[in-house]
Amino acid sequence: MDKILIKGGSPLFGCIQISGAKNAALPLMAASLLTDAPIVLHNLPHLADISTMANLLTHHGVNISMTGEAGDGGHTGRALKLKASKIKNTTAPYELVRRMRASILVLGPLLARTGEARVSLPGGCAIGARPVDLHLKGLSQLGVKIQMEEGYVTASAPHGLKGTKFTFPIVSVGATENLLMAACLANGETVLTNVAREPEVGDLAECLIKMGAKINGIGTDTLVIQGQRTLSGTEHIVVPDRIEAGTYAMAAALTGGDIILKGPRMELLQAVLDKLGEAGVSVQKTEGGIQVKRNGKLKGVDVMTEPFPGFPTDLQAQMTALMSIAEGAAMITESIFENRFMHIPELARMGANVTVHGASSLVRGVGELIGAPVMATDLRASASLVLAGLVAKGETTVNRVYHIDSGYERIEEKLAACGANIERLDV
Ligand code: EPZ
Repeated sequence: MDKILIKGGSPLFGCIQISGAKNAALPLMAASLLTDAPIVLHNLPHLADISTMANLLTHHGVNISMTGEAGDGGHTGRALKLKASKIKNTTAPYELVRRMRASILVLGPLLARTGEARVSLPGGCAIGARPVDLHLKGLSQLGVKIQMEEGYVTASAPHGLKGTKFTFPIVSVGATENLLMAACLANGETVLTNVAREPEVGDLAECLIKMGAKINGIGTDTLVIQGQRTLSGTEHIVVPDRIEAGTYAMAAALTGGDIILKGPRMELLQAVLDKLGEAGVSVQKTEGGIQVKRNGKLKGVDVMTEPFPGFPTDLQAQMTALMSIAEGAAMITESIFENRFMHIPELARMGANVTVHGASSLVRGVGELIGAPVMATDLRASASLVLAGLVAKGETTVNRVYHIDSGYERIEEKLAACGANIERLDV
């Protein structure tokens, strides 16, 4: 089980290439089920979750091959060609789904393409119960018959999907993506209201349009889809990962360094960059990318996570690490997930002063953090522990590093290249 060992205290200087977004790549890969034509995805990150999705799609009958060279069009990610000539299996088994919750994203495409699907319920995870009731409610409004059997969703639409009007009672990224993909092959018009507006949803919609889908309202809270009989193939470049970019921006701010983030799109990170600016971090667009450096002391600022374009929940843990050494205090409120404070007890072991009050945590800045052995519990909590280790006095060992590998491509290499004293221990 790998660990990451960090000797804190080195400010980060240099450039970090931002990879393609994991949370865009996963639904984009699932979209390959919607057509028998090939789709080529460029700038895919090298991540465990991508491999898990590839395994699941192969199980369904998608032929997946590496294509193009790294560096196509200035991108570092790999390019995959996915071709679902025929769906050979419409069951997504528990042993694959339990490894990655985003497997639920095959449900809509399988139903749209074949009229049937049997997908294991993903179950909860460290950050919350993660129900899929909105996915199922929306699909049933599209005419899908849904039964729950032994932990599986058994769904069928023998006469195809029919266009509908559906309003999400709460904003859900995954449910928006599942219903968007299903609606592309439904009979008639579907109007989805109160949809997620995350850039990864927009990236999926852009790709679907290139595949022949008729979608209006991208970037707004309402998507109108005119169902088509079939979709064609296309090529698509995965949008840069705004959460990876925000994570490394905070690493630069924490360590008092000065880095250039290459590749991210500033407009996808505006709420985060505004907060960093308030906290005393300088963020500037340069021709090479986004330059991030700290101006003097960090100041405590309040943060509330919200659906896009608000402050992303996926950067809440990292922001807590940043605020742990700021002057003053920061109130950090998590409004999306019910249990996304698992990083706090671990940060406390490094000397952070954070108290939890319901959905909010109060971070009182301390002079310094002290390195310690800590436990990763989920993807973004583990990223916050790496950040804390970069600035802590002494050594920090982050255990259960597989959590990090599911969402950060070569994190220790990217940080070491900027001067961090960090290495992966294969123990
Ligand atoms: C996506 O998860 C992301 N994952 C998450 O990133 C991200 O934190 C989340 O969106 C919010 O932005 C991927 O895109 C693969 P939701 P998703 O449905 O779609 C509740 C990371 O670290 N809900 O928007 O599962 C849910 O419990 C991961 O990269 C229901 O109640 O999130 C949560 O409280 C973590 N019923 C809220 O909605 C449902 O049917 C938002 O969840 C669906 C969701």
